[in-house]
Formats: sequence, structure tokens, C-alpha cells
Amino acid sequence: MKKQVISTLLVGAMAVGMLAGCGDSTSTGAAATSAAAAASSAAPAAATSAAAAATSAAAAATSAAAAAAGTGTVGVAMPTKDLQRWNQDGSNMKDQLEAAGYTVDLQYANNDVSTQVSQIENMVANGDQILVIASIDGSSLGTVLAEAKAKNIPVIAYDRLIMQTDAVSYYATFDNYKVGTIQGQYIEDQLGLKDGKGPFNIEIFTGDPADNNAQFFYNGAMDVLKPYITSGKLVVKSGQTEFADVATANWSTETAQSRMENIISSYYSDGTTLDAVLCSNDSTALGVENALSGAYNGTWPVITGQDCDMANVKNMIAGKQSMSVFKDTRELAKQVVKMVGQVLTGATVDVNNTKDYDNGTGVIPTYLCDPVFADKDNYKTLLIDSGYYTEADLQ
Ligand code: BGC
Repeated sequence: MKKQVISTLLVGAMAVGMLAGCGDSTSTGAAATSAAAAASSAAPAAATSAAAAATSAAAAATSAAAAAAGTGTVGVAMPTKDLQRWNQDGSNMKDQLEAAGYTVDLQYANNDVSTQVSQIENMVANGDQILVIASIDGSSLGTVLAEAKAKNIPVIAYDRLIMQTDAVSYYATFDNYKVGTIQGQYIEDQLGLKDGKGPFNIEIFTGDPADNNAQFFYNGAMDVLKPYITSGKLVVKSGQTEFADVATANWSTETAQSRMENIISSYYSDGTTLDAVLCSNDSTALGVENALSGAYNGTWPVITGQDCDMANVKNMIAGKQSMSVFKDTRELAKQVVKMVGQVLTGATVDVNNTKDYDNGTGVIPTYLCDPVFADKDNYKTLLIDSGYYTEADLQ
């Protein structure tokens, strides 16, 4: 990634790091900038694209201005039930939208792009008044979203940015670059790389290339780790370091597992120690952990993750996964429900990032929630005391 982009992202990450988290109204008030305000103060090139996004967002908001908050149907398109987090996202959205008075049309697409497209077509045909979409392939929704735009149905991209379409009004997610930074810095700390320790062996697993987030996670982590790879303090025995080589289609546990099994048999079956595995999320971490349990006899490596899925928290407690990144899906849902109401009533929409998320048609005004580091020492406070899980869930 180009330096300029990295520094932009870092500044964004720092700004967001100052927030207490999603839905904190005081910090939102201070940090929230309307897309239009950002457009006028930003550098000319960015201003043009932010202005374009602001215009389309404003158009959608105006067209929906007649609609009231808390009435009508909200279409919620989720990628798959296979991964725990999307079940939580879907049910949190449904519960909170219904509590606010909306009817909810919640659909899961089994990670199949054409299923998701036809679900969204139905939402448009049924006259849903606003769409909230967590895409499977961020670049495959242009045609169906053009239909939504033609009917003045606003679209909010949920967690994953929808690419190459000007039909998207707003985006809400967690700070994806910061997720990667947390993972990279954890490996840096655990191995003592800053103190000059090493060399250590590391392998890298990231996510689906069609998911815009995957590149952010990878960049955040690699911006921390790459200097050590270059200096030889981190060695990637497989030689697989480029995004395309370490991506995992559909974030599949099985795909990650079989890639890790191949790597173990080629590079670590002779007693060579694997010191760390950077995994961008919990589903890939689970595959790596399964492969290691079956075929690796050395000292257990440092393994990162993201989402605090139950199976991974159990592995954290059992010492098989070192950390995860907690993204409280209740908070993201709360923010998006608020956004839905603001868009439908034509109110100013809370956003706190108007520069980092360009979907190819311009910068989409974004609300970033704050991801939080989790490990076996703080999971009880984060996950159980907060009511996210019960003790029994993690037995
Ligand atoms: C989400 C992650 C999730 C991954 C796989 C990403 O877009 O941000 O939280 O682990 O998809 O579902």
C-alpha cells in the first residue's frame, strides 16, 4: 500500500482510537462530521469525491425524508449463517429495529452471491424503504443496487463496503485497519521483536479477496510486521506473504486448515518451530488450530484472531489461540439502527470518517466503531460481564 494511504489510515485510526466506542454520543458529537463539511475542508481531490458521496447521500436522504423513523420495512441482507458473527449481527439488527418500530425483512444468503442478489431484488420489488447490506462479494451488487437507487431506496453498507456503485449512501463498520494493527502489534509484543529478539518463524492467513475488509486487516497487520520480515527477524518459511497468496476464499475454516496442513508437511514436519501465525479472523484461526492439533508437534505458536467466536474463545481459554479482537455487534447494530432513523427522517447522519472508505465511485461517509483487544485475561469482563455470552456458552 502506498505510504500516503497508510498515513491517511493511521491518522484515521488515531482519530477513531480517541473515541470511547460505537454509539458514544458525546464522542460522536465531537468527531462526527457531515460529509458535506468534510468535503469543504478536505484537500481538493478528496473533497471532490467526498462531495460526490455527500451529494448522493443527501439525495437519498431527501427522497426518503417523507418517511418516518420507526415505520415501514427495513431490508437486512446478511452473507451467511455459517459464521457465528453474522447470526449475531442479524439478530441484533432485527431485535433493535423491531424495538424501534420497524418491520424487518432479514435474509441470509448462504455465502452465495446470486442468492444475495435475488434477495435484494425482492426487497426492492417489495418496496422496503431502506436496505442494510453486509455483502458477500462487495463488487457484485451494482446492478441490483441501481434498481434500488432508481426507486429512491437508500442503502447502508453494513460492516463490509459495497464497491463500484454510487447507490450506497453510508457505511458503518469497525475500524478495520486498526483490527490488523492490534493483531500485528500483539505478535510484535509477544515475540519481543522491538527488543531485537528473533529470528522467528511466522505464517500468514487473511480473508476473502472479495471482502474489502480483508485488505484493510492485512495492511494493518503487515504494516507492523513487514519491517521484521525485511530485516529477517521474522521468517515466512512457506514464502507466502503477498495478499493473493495468503487470502482465504469465503473465510473458510476448511480452506485455511488444508493450507496450514500443506505448510506444516512441507516446512514444519522436521521439528522446525512455528512461532506465530497471523490469522485475520477467528474462522481462519480455527482452521489453523485444527491443522496444528492434527499434525504439528512443536511448541504451540502465538495465534491471532478476530470476532471472539465461541469456539475461539474456548480455544483461548484452552491455550490454543492467543488473542482475538472483540467487535461488539450489539454496538454496530445500535449505530446502524440510529443511522436508519437519521437517513429516513432526513436528519444529519452521524459519521466519523469521511476519507478512508472510497468504494470506487467516491468516499462513502462512514461510522467506525472501535475494535477491542481480547485475550484469556480480559474475556470475562468483555464477554461475560457485558452479557455478550453466558459462562455456559463457553463451557
Ligand atoms: C468481518 C469479520 C469476519 C469476516 C468473515 C469480515 O468482513 O469484518 O468480522 O470475521 O468478514 O465473516
